[in-house]
Amino acid sequence: MSWHEEYRKKYKELKEKGVPFFPDVVLLDAIAACVVFATLVYLAAAHPPHLESLADPTDTGYTPRPEWYFLFLFQALKFFPGSMEAVAAIILPGAILGVMFLVPFLDRGPKRHPFDRPLWTGLGAAGLLVYAGLTWAGYQSPLANPAEEKRPEVVAGKRLYAQLNCVYCHKIKGEGGRVGPALDRLSDAATDEWLSKHLRDPQSIAPGSPMPKMNLLEDEVASLTAYIRSHNPNDPFTPAAPKLFAENCAACHAIRGEGGDLGPDLSEVGAMRDKAYIQKYLENPAQFNPESSMPAYKGQLKDHEIEDIARYLARQRRR
Ligand code: HEC
Ligand code: HEC
Repeated sequence: MSWHEEYRKKYKELKEKGVPFFPDVVLLDAIAACVVFATLVYLAAAHPPHLESLADPTDTGYTPRPEWYFLFLFQALKFFPGSMEAVAAIILPGAILGVMFLVPFLDRGPKRHPFDRPLWTGLGAAGLLVYAGLTWAGYQSPLANPAEEKRPEVVAGKRLYAQLNCVYCHKIKGEGGRVGPALDRLSDAATDEWLSKHLRDPQSIAPGSPMPKMNLLEDEVASLTAYIRSHNPNDPFTPAAPKLFAENCAACHAIRGEGGDLGPDLSEVGAMRDKAYIQKYLENPAQFNPESSMPAYKGQLKDHEIEDIARYLARQRRR
């Protein structure tokens, strides 16, 4: 008996005692689909995905990354620079989908067990390995934004900063000495004029400062100022922010003596917390402090209002 006949016989036997596709199997499928769908609806309502803050074109430090299940594509794109991008983005995925579509026509063997079909099982396993490998490589790839700083003044300032050994006394991004203050979290009072004046003659601003007076040329002062500024972007809040604060928060929080004392004084909250933290805190204090008595503002205020207040608060610090 050839395998065709054997197969037909078996098929007939099964057909006699099996359950019909419609409605039995279709009903099971429909129930499963409903369960999955209801779960998704529940998750979307009860645990909505977090959006990031509003896109900020001046933020050069942002590193966009896809969700984990697309990391492999993100990583694969790196092997196909420039005009080759279409190969990784369209041609390869298209070819792979095409092969998957054709598998039932290409793999015509009678056996069902995966080990009896080494070629196709092997191809499938290899595909999964490549997927896992690319995902892992994408996950490991450095977070830093490769977008290089290009403004000539800032580049010159960076070079001077290294040559003059400012790093011996100052930290930027956590690297450097601790004799002087970190230069990537200056307060707003450090305007460009103030910085330039300080660089020309530190002692004129901070009498007795151990920072050496370096007799810098004017364009060197400008470059250093631009470099320091690049690490302290002006992040303005709108005039609405203090008003929103007065309306919603001042009942419990004071800033420079104005407001209630049910919550902590926020006059210097910017020294300890950055904008991102404050924004998250306002959205839902309970995620930081389960016993918080502060109301959650997500949904109460608009997202951009919360962000505005967060910017305003991040700037609350004394020099
Ligand atoms: C010997 C250590 C030392 C070196 C070198 C040094 N600084 Fe300073 N710097 C300090 C100290 C201490 C302060 C805090 C007192 C003051 O304001 O002068 C300071 C303050 C500053 C401030 C003001 C920050 C603030 O918010 O008060 C800036 C800006 C600054 N330094 C930039 C530089 C630059 C740029 C260089 C390199 C050209 C440099 N410093 C080299 C010790 C140093
Ligand atoms: C009912 C009183 C109340 C109101 C209204 C309130 N807060 Fe709070 N807030 C608190 C209390 C109490 C805390 C102390 C920690 C906690 O309970 O979460 C706090 C903590 C905070 C913190 C954290 C400080 C830190 O260093 O961790 C921030 C930031 C803050 N509030 C900002 C605001 C802003 C902005 C508003 C208005 C949009 C606001 N709060 C409205 C009571 C309040």
